[in-house]
Amino acid sequence: MRLAFTIQRYHPELDAAPHDETYRLDVARGMTVLDALIRIKNEQDGRLTFRYSCRSAICGSCSMTINGGEKLACRTSVRREWERHGGLIVGPLRHLPVLKDLSVDMGSFWGKVRAIEPWLRDSGRQAAGGALAAGASRFHNVDACIMCGACVAACTVHEVDKGFLGPAALAKAYRFVADARESGPARTSRLAALQGPTGMWDCTRCNFCVEVCPKDVQPMEAIIRLRREAIESGHTGTGGARHVVGFRDLIARFGRLNEALMPLKVIGWSLRKFLRVLPLGVRMLLKGKVPSPLHSSMDGPERVRALLERRR
Ligand code: SF4
Ligand code: SF4
Ligand code: FES
Repeated sequence: MRLAFTIQRYHPELDAAPHDETYRLDVARGMTVLDALIRIKNEQDGRLTFRYSCRSAICGSCSMTINGGEKLACRTSVRREWERHGGLIVGPLRHLPVLKDLSVDMGSFWGKVRAIEPWLRDSGRQAAGGALAAGASRFHNVDACIMCGACVAACTVHEVDKGFLGPAALAKAYRFVADARESGPARTSRLAALQGPTGMWDCTRCNFCVEVCPKDVQPMEAIIRLRREAIESGHTGTGGARHVVGFRDLIARFGRLNEALMPLKVIGWSLRKFLRVLPLGVRMLLKGKVPSPLHSSMDGPERVRALLERRR
């Protein structure tokens, strides 16, 4: 079967802007997108640039955009893509600077992974073998990450805020928070360092990182666990943490969410902040989006409270 591949080309030193080029190739059974790119490079255009190494979904270097989704080229079947999308459109990872063609600058990605200090820090406590095993079971597959960057390229927050630590780095941070060998001040300071405006509370839980991850790391789930650990460790001063705690308190009190009181739970009793959100509250009230703050509790809120207690 002879198929057309549309590939985004861009040589920053020669091209004013990225442009598409189309190549035709006879496709053999079982061919991956990486196989096709290697053949196009060898047979049609030696200047085509892309990264790869292991060809076995291990090294993470062949991550790119294939038919609109972030995928590893070495484990993406040409035929399956063609059957699903009726074509093959290949480009670099999104929202990362293009070095050339399909190769992007991963400098910011690695900088963020380094920023979370991805090593065990001295806690003054040596875990016994049993403790290490117990900790390892809590990693929830985050240690399977191959640092391909697909999750960061797909992340809706990274798209608008390049400072966001991002799903891969935060999942890596969780791996150390969950490690029984790191505890005490080392663990506390690691969690504290992630409370900033570009840290764990910046994630909007869009789930895209989970969808694209080729290793089922589920970064968003790791971020949620990271948040839980932070709150349980007393890091409750951020807007995000106050939202979680306030949400739970209101449910426990009324048996359901009270949207009128929720902003007060998040901003606290600060007149300046209250005046800032007041116009929004009035607009929501006028549009019927906010129930009266005096609305009645649900019948039997004690049953909801019992459920919450069981989840503790
Ligand atoms: S869930 Fe959070 S970290 Fe994952 S892609 Fe969405 S915003 Fe980014
Ligand atoms: S979490 Fe998944 S998508 Fe993100 S870098 Fe690791 S392996 Fe790639
Ligand atoms: S070449 Fe290593 S993951 Fe694809």
